[in-house]
Amino acid sequence: MNYRHAYHAGNFADVVKHVVLTRLLEYLKQKDKAFRVIDTHAGIGRYDLSSVEAQKTGEWQGGIGRLIDASFDASAAALLAPYLEAVRSLNPDGGVKRYPGSPLIARHLMRKQDRLSAIELHPKDAARLKAEFGGDFQTRVMELDGWLALGAHLPPKEKRGLVLIDPPFEEAGEFDRLVDGLERAHKRWPGGIYALWYPIKDRRAIIAFRKALRQSGIPKLLDIEFEIRPPSTEPSLDGSGMVVVNPPFTLEGELRTVLPALHRLLAVEKPAHWSLDWLAGE
Ligand SMILES: C[S@@+](CC[C@H](N)C(=O)[O-])C[C@H]1O[C@@H](n2cnc3c(N)ncnc32)[C@H](O)[C@@H]1O
Repeated sequence: MNYRHAYHAGNFADVVKHVVLTRLLEYLKQKDKAFRVIDTHAGIGRYDLSSVEAQKTGEWQGGIGRLIDASFDASAAALLAPYLEAVRSLNPDGGVKRYPGSPLIARHLMRKQDRLSAIELHPKDAARLKAEFGGDFQTRVMELDGWLALGAHLPPKEKRGLVLIDPPFEEAGEFDRLVDGLERAHKRWPGGIYALWYPIKDRRAIIAFRKALRQSGIPKLLDIEFEIRPPSTEPSLDGSGMVVVNPPFTLEGELRTVLPALHRLLAVEKPAHWSLDWLAGE
C-alpha cells in the first residue's frame, strides 16, 4: 500500500474520472428517489495542491489547472458545471488550491435523501476521511478492503445508485481483480451503475481486460478511452479509461459533447485520441 493519491490529485485522469462521476450523479438526481454511492477506493477526499506531494509532481497543473479558468462552448459548459462547481466550492477565493476527491465530489452533489459509503483501506487515509466526514449522517466511512466490500455491501437498501471502483493499480493483477470484482458485484446487484477506472499504460493488459469483460456476459458496458499522448516507449500514464456498466441512456451523448472539449485542453502530444465503445450492448 505505497500508493498515495496526493501525488496525482487533480491530474488529467482525475478530471476525466470526476467529470464522468458527476454526469452519473446528475442523472441519478433526475428522480426524487434516494440513491447510494459506494466508493470502494475513496482516498482522503480533500487534497491540498500546495502540499509537498502535489508540488513534487505538479500533475494537477496538467489537469484541473488547465480547466479551472478555461472557456467552453455553451453545451460543454453546462455539462461541466456540476464538476467545476464542486471544485470551486473548495476554492471560494478563486483559482485552485484544493482539489476534491471522489467522495467529496459525490457528497457535494447529493441531496438530503442520498447516502454515501466511502471505503478506504489505508489506515491513515481512512482516518483522514473519517475526520473529513465527521458528524455527517449521510456518509459512512469504512476502513475496509474495497474488494471485499463489493460483496458485502451490495445491493444497497436504496436499490438505486452507483459503485465507483478506482483502485491504485500498484500491484500486478489489478485488471483481473477489476473483472472478478465486477462479476461478483453484478451478480448481487445487476441493476446498479458501476464505474471502473483503469490506466492506459500497458496496452496488452488493456486488450486482455476488454476481452475478459466481453466474455463476462455482463450487458451494457460502455468503455471510455482518453489518451493525452501516443504510446510512450517507457511505461507512463499515456491516458486513462473508464468502463461504465448500465450507463444512463444520456451518458454517451453527453460524453460526445464533453470529451472533445476536455481533450483539446488536456492532450499534450499528438496523435492522441479519445473514444467511446460499447464492449457489450443490451
Ligand atoms: C486512485 S486512489 C482513489 C482516488 C479517489 N477514488 C478519487 O477519485 O479521489 C486509490 C485509493 O485506494 C486505496 N486502496 C488501496 N487498496 C485498497 C483496497 N484494497 N481497498 C480500499 N482501498 C484501497 C489507496 O490507499 C488509495 O487511497
